[in-house]
Amino acid sequence: MTSNKMVLGDYQFFDLKPARQDMHQEIVAGLRAQEKRIAPKYFYDEQGSALFESITELPEYYLTRTEMNVFDRYGDDIAAVIGDGTCVVEYGSGSSQKIRKLLETVHMEAYMPVDISKDHLRNNARALHRDFPGLSVYPICADFTQPFELPEIANGWNRVGFFPGSSIGNFDPADAVTFLSNIARNLGPGAQLIIGVDRKKAPEILEAAYDDSQGITAEFNLNLLKHLNDALGANFAIDEFTHEAVYNEDLGCVQMYLRSRKAQQVTLGTEIVEFARDETIHTENSYKYHLEEFQALAESAGFAVRSVWTDERNWFAVVLLEVQ
Ligand SMILES: C[S@@+](CC[C@H](N)C(=O)[O-])C[C@H]1O[C@@H](n2cnc3c(N)ncnc32)[C@H](O)[C@@H]1O
Repeated sequence: MTSNKMVLGDYQFFDLKPARQDMHQEIVAGLRAQEKRIAPKYFYDEQGSALFESITELPEYYLTRTEMNVFDRYGDDIAAVIGDGTCVVEYGSGSSQKIRKLLETVHMEAYMPVDISKDHLRNNARALHRDFPGLSVYPICADFTQPFELPEIANGWNRVGFFPGSSIGNFDPADAVTFLSNIARNLGPGAQLIIGVDRKKAPEILEAAYDDSQGITAEFNLNLLKHLNDALGANFAIDEFTHEAVYNEDLGCVQMYLRSRKAQQVTLGTEIVEFARDETIHTENSYKYHLEEFQALAESAGFAVRSVWTDERNWFAVVLLEVQ
């Protein structure tokens, strides 16, 4: 389907104003829970986004390299299943590094990067628009964990969702189904979704990927506290917490924590939160999937699996789903 509204190489920024005013409330509720937790979306201030880019280049962090390798191997096959008149909507676009790889083979008219980290989004979307002048780029600042409508301008194209990086692993399986159901509604019936899924493998490989020898993942995890200090006027003593990453075999999930080195109090505005020595804040889950587990999950969210592309070691899968 094409639209006469299409303008080649158009650019427009859509700020859906993700509800930052709820941040204080959400953080305090998480820190008051029986097991303290903070949602991973709060990793991504400017510094957190930059640290994540450094993580993607670490020798232990096989995920980005392996997924890029799948795009290299199967770029032509992916291009063949993506039709003409396409608008690719990427959920959590970060540096938009992977769309650059897809653009080597896949033809698209428009690209809608969706991200919560506004300045990072704007800078990367502008850079992409500069480098691909014929491509229309419509960045959307939004929280993808909340249902939202794509701007009307997306109506004229075939919509293809893009959710690489195994970010689906950050949701527990029930929330992943809810998230994918929202995406199915967001994209509309018949739309396709290209999604990266990290597969189950040896625990030592998984734990090293989230606890590298240079300490960059530790810095990324601890930067969350600095983000809360900056955004909420909290007073976390960052040196008094340590980074931890463990693979929970029962759940099939790498879990990241910040552990308090001592008994301490932290103030967030008028709230005081107590930490016992060794008490943890759970900051991230990264679920790993067998292919059949992921297929069942996608089907319960209203998608059918159309293709699976993988790397030589079968460590990572790029899965093509279609909204039913
Ligand atoms: C792990 S990075 C992945 C970036 C890129 N897609 C890739 O595969 O390399 C996650 C990105 O999602 C964004 N993000 C995380 N939670 C989000 C949310 N709830 N809504 C929108 N964007 C989010 C972050 O700002 C970050 O840029």
